Amino acid sequence: MARAPAGSPQELFAYRYGAAPAAPEPPAGGDTLAYLAGRRSCRSYLDRPVDPALVETLAAAAFCAPSKSDLQQRDIVILRAPALRGEIDALFPDDPWIAAAPAFLVFCGNNRRQRQLHEWRGRAFVNDHLDAFFNAAVDAAILLATFVIAAERAGLGCCPISALRNHGGRVSDLLGLPDHVFPVAGLTLGWPAEEGEISLRLPLGVTLHEDRFDEAGLRQAVEAYDARRAESQPYAKQRDTADYGTAAPYTWSEDKARQYAKPQRADFGAFIRAKGFRLD
Ligand SMILES: Cc1cc2nc3c(=O)[nH]c(=O)nc-3n(C[C@H](O)[C@H](O)[C@H](O)COP(=O)(O)O)c2cc1C
Repeated sequence: MARAPAGSPQELFAYRYGAAPAAPEPPAGGDTLAYLAGRRSCRSYLDRPVDPALVETLAAAAFCAPSKSDLQQRDIVILRAPALRGEIDALFPDDPWIAAAPAFLVFCGNNRRQRQLHEWRGRAFVNDHLDAFFNAAVDAAILLATFVIAAERAGLGCCPISALRNHGGRVSDLLGLPDHVFPVAGLTLGWPAEEGEISLRLPLGVTLHEDRFDEAGLRQAVEAYDARRAESQPYAKQRDTADYGTAAPYTWSEDKARQYAKPQRADFGAFIRAKGFRLD
């Protein structure tokens, strides 16, 4: 498997995307670009605790992220009690590295406070539709991403865990999440035990558009990405070989198509509705 190359942001971008973006020299903020160009999720941690005070500081940094209309509809639950942590870890028997992570946080969307403001101020909440859920989910995702950046820049490793939502009701019960508060993702956190690998990305020509959304050449670009990725970052394991057999090469698009060929979280809408959201 190819190792992550060391190098300038331009070299790292070229590795990730197959071609570097236009600017030959990083503008101001080059250290941020260099960090982002080389960042990666971490699923292997040293047996070393993360100081709770550091986690609180990282949370303080993350909550500085933008928030839709300053509504601040996102919260973090830090798992501290070993018994509770054990219950959450037990939800992931196939991913023992989650239980081995020194710290685990749950990022939640919270539309409850907004509704409480309406009660306290005697104003009807008349926007009880999909947007109420969506805004809180987006805020929580931005918070998560910002926490990841703060943590990685502090030298920690982390990995978001959306698999938490496979157990929305159980997580909600364990954490005492009330109506209109829902888990968006967990996050494992610890000091990295290995350097890890930079994950290749779709070429910028696929995901970056000018003026108008453009899918010209999409399939060829994805196939080229498949080939580049299979060459330098082959998957260690193929999904659902009993149903789909063994593919050679086993590509990113095949992996993603297999992933969503199986029902996943089909009960999530019912869970969110049971939390009191109307999703129309
Ligand atoms: C919202 C979100 C949910 C994720 N959920 C999981 C998860 O449940 N399990 C996991 O191993 N990785 C999870 N990841 C990590 C992704 O697999 C990872 O970001 C992706 O493979 C790209 O790798 P990189 O972060 O190293 O660039 C999640 C990432 C995000 C942003």
